[in-house]
Amino acid sequence: MEILKTRAQLASRLSAFRDADKLIGLVPTMGALHNGHLSLVNEARKHTDIVVCSIFVNPTQFNDPTDLERYPRPIENDIEKLTPLCDVLFMPEVSEMYASGEQWHIDLGRLEYLLEGRFRPGHYQGVTQIVKKLFDAVQPDKAFFGQKDFQQFKIIDSMVKQLHLPVELVMCPIIRESDGLAMSSRNVHLSPAEHQQALALSKTLLFVQQNFENRSIAELNKSALEMLNRSEGVELDYFQICDADTLDVVNEKTSKHVIALLAARVGNTRLIDNIILQ
Ligand code: PAJ
Repeated sequence: MEILKTRAQLASRLSAFRDADKLIGLVPTMGALHNGHLSLVNEARKHTDIVVCSIFVNPTQFNDPTDLERYPRPIENDIEKLTPLCDVLFMPEVSEMYASGEQWHIDLGRLEYLLEGRFRPGHYQGVTQIVKKLFDAVQPDKAFFGQKDFQQFKIIDSMVKQLHLPVELVMCPIIRESDGLAMSSRNVHLSPAEHQQALALSKTLLFVQQNFENRSIAELNKSALEMLNRSEGVELDYFQICDADTLDVVNEKTSKHVIALLAARVGNTRLIDNIILQ
């Protein structure tokens, strides 16, 4: 695996692959890699010839400076995990990706302000800025993202369509711990007791999925909120059943695709999870 730190190095290395008609796959990450990230890399391996992974803790998507500061950065471990799976690791400094004082904005419409957007103002502007820059730097044929960040996927999809970017997006399923907790780089901050408390998130989603056929949306919302609110240590930000295409809240089962999404704080750690219902 080659480790490259500048866009110029990346451009010259990848142009050789492109000239040889190799399909290039990109897996953007912020590091602190777990099996969820590695499943994306494995998926990229299956569908493309050259797998590029990026590790960049993107400052513009953190609305909470403490969250940015305490974001885990176990870079030696990450390199070890990627070495057998990846061809190129792109690991730029902040100054390589952003000019000082740089500011711009993409109109993401309503999607930006729903769900996560309500709790993390500006977050998706930061995400789209860096993903656009990574797409420009790598020019991948395909880019791989997790369902874990479902709203992020929809927003990147909307940017790709608006700007006619020549990249195919692939969504990969959520990888969970054996107890059901969705893998996340932030899980390292959970104490063993908090980890147990956090299981209420996946348990509730699973309950909603298992009862989706037989109960109304109103009943499901009521039960889910009861389960989450009585869970010790869980501070709920939102639980919502939404149309998976628009992310609008649904009250009836008339949408073709339906998803339940939630976010909650357990101790000082904010967690998100979701499950596809239909
Ligand atoms: P990060 O949180 O590091 O996640 C990188 C990719 O891994 C995302 O596409 C995310 O959805 C996926 N992922 C995380 N946990 C997963 C799990 N348990 N199962 C499957 N996939 C999982 O998302 C970001 O970084 C950033 O916002 C980024 C897109 C890199 C832009 O900075």
